[in-house]
Amino acid sequence: MSPFPSKSLRLFLPAVLPLLLQLNAVAHPDKVEDRLLMHFATGSTPIQGDTWEDLTHRVKARVIGQPKLMNIGPAQALVFNGLSDWLLAAPDAATAKPVLPVKEMTASAWVRFNDMQPEGGLCGFIQDNGSFEKGWLLGYDQAHFTFRLASSGGNKDGDGVLTNLISKSTVKPGPWYHVTATYDGAAMRLYVNGRLEGESRDQSGDILYPDAGKLTIAAFADSNELEILDGALLEVKTYGRAMPEAEIAAVVERNAGLLAWPGSINDSLQFLVRPYLQAASATGMSIMAETSRPAAMTVEYAETAPLTLTAGVPAGTTSISTVSLTGLKPHTRYFYRVTSDDGNGNTARSEVKSFQTLPGPADAWAFGLLGDTQRNPDVTRRCADGIFALRPNFMLHVGDVVDDGFAKQQWVFDLFAPCSDLFSYVPVFPVIGNHEKNSHWYYDYFHLPEPEYFYTFKCGNAEFFMVDSNKDVSPESEQYQKLEQALAASTATWKFTAHHHPCWSSDNDDYGDTLKGKPGEPFTLGEPQLQPLVALYEKYGVDIAFAGHIHSYERTWPILNMAINQRKGVRYIVSGGGGGNLEKASPQRAWFSIHVQSGHHFCFATVQDRTIQFKAYDLEGRLFDTFELTKAADR
Ligand SMILES: [Fe+2]
Ligand SMILES: [Fe+2]
Repeated sequence: MSPFPSKSLRLFLPAVLPLLLQLNAVAHPDKVEDRLLMHFATGSTPIQGDTWEDLTHRVKARVIGQPKLMNIGPAQALVFNGLSDWLLAAPDAATAKPVLPVKEMTASAWVRFNDMQPEGGLCGFIQDNGSFEKGWLLGYDQAHFTFRLASSGGNKDGDGVLTNLISKSTVKPGPWYHVTATYDGAAMRLYVNGRLEGESRDQSGDILYPDAGKLTIAAFADSNELEILDGALLEVKTYGRAMPEAEIAAVVERNAGLLAWPGSINDSLQFLVRPYLQAASATGMSIMAETSRPAAMTVEYAETAPLTLTAGVPAGTTSISTVSLTGLKPHTRYFYRVTSDDGNGNTARSEVKSFQTLPGPADAWAFGLLGDTQRNPDVTRRCADGIFALRPNFMLHVGDVVDDGFAKQQWVFDLFAPCSDLFSYVPVFPVIGNHEKNSHWYYDYFHLPEPEYFYTFKCGNAEFFMVDSNKDVSPESEQYQKLEQALAASTATWKFTAHHHPCWSSDNDDYGDTLKGKPGEPFTLGEPQLQPLVALYEKYGVDIAFAGHIHSYERTWPILNMAINQRKGVRYIVSGGGGGNLEKASPQRAWFSIHVQSGHHFCFATVQDRTIQFKAYDLEGRLFDTFELTKAADR
């Protein structure tokens, strides 16, 4: 029996829907970092007019001038012109006070300089006027990062004395840097790319703030100076604690790809994202790639060498290009090679790779399944390698492909880099998760049939229905109606659906707290808003509904009308084990569950005629769940 009054779930919904929606809103909260005071990250929250709210929602910065969001290498960053562009995070001391560190602090930034100047600022609240020295500033000079701070303990003359820490290594325009300043009430420290580059014990006690001043980003601004950044910022964060060296090193480690970007404005054209396969069909394949700047893209291809056929597109306005090959033979291998050309004699050329068009209705075939890769490239690489080793015809990704859909560098380094080999041989069909934040990058990087958020495709004797579970799926919604039409029209032997959020899940805290279950704190065993899909899947005989979102694995018994029905039920599989932090199931077994397991993993399925074999593997390649199903002729 379910711990939840399961049979009445749908009846129960209207009365508690507002509460359930609320619960859902706090499901999967972004982990709030300890004593984070301010967090600006490009892309994650858009600039609205001349106001830019930070991710903590505590700071509304005024945008001065016209900083521009631009792609710089693998990242998209806010570019300041060195003359008039900067951010006024708080115009005065009273406004700034709630987000100013009192004693312990950390200020960090991802920055890339076009040019450097003798006294520059990245973030701070400072007055440095003759002998009047108060506040703090994470900044730079013509060749170093700097960290200035005045404290009550260092205040020997009553006006304050700033200590100016200067990084040991030389900093230059071009590459991305991660710089961190910390103060713990006794020592100031300055880290560049995770390495300690300066330390001072001259200051102690509370930070000494001036009565008047402003909290600034991308500028050093006090009452008589304004020096503006000529360069780009990806992120600025402040904390009310001194971050330990290991934590700073971990941040840097997670972004090693960004630091490895050479950053020089040289002529060579490079692939930021190596060629990958999209929109596969029996007679077509799209090949995509991203280059370091817009370039024309040509694909040479053929069934055997030499690659005598070509197709191409001219340089577009963006650096992501798509070449769609049509008129191909079904279930046939083609070799291909991509060459991008910027028109100035600079080219990037891929190795020769190969793909196979999708099989026809009489063929046996296989697909991989992965979800919630988020931001864990080592795990994602192991999953991708595991899937590729099994040689699927294509793969499904059930969403949360990255952790922050607006952080362009995550697409480059946390999704495409670890999946590079897999995606170059095996086309991927995604659905959008919540972590993509409906960012344009999802639609830019994936080439999907209209209307993109919802689409269908066929492989062999199956049809896949790909749903955006962030969007409305109530019976009145456009998506529900499109899905119903498509299901009703489908003549495929197998009907599979995929969306990010699960209809059924045993998770212990995503749908209410299953560890409490007090009156007034109901929980559901799955996403309440998706219940209309359950009815639709049952009506049209969907075989398996794939989902992610819960970072674990779960397979249900066949479910029909809120009960297990071995003959006519719909099976549900949650596979959210591609990298995101793992989640656990409720201690009590859910009535519908066959197998639930916490652990990073990937899945693989083979289909022949009316038989499917499904397998789930852990990172070591150990099989931990499997089933075989042969459909009755009347099912
Ligand atoms: Fe997720
Ligand atoms: Fe999710």
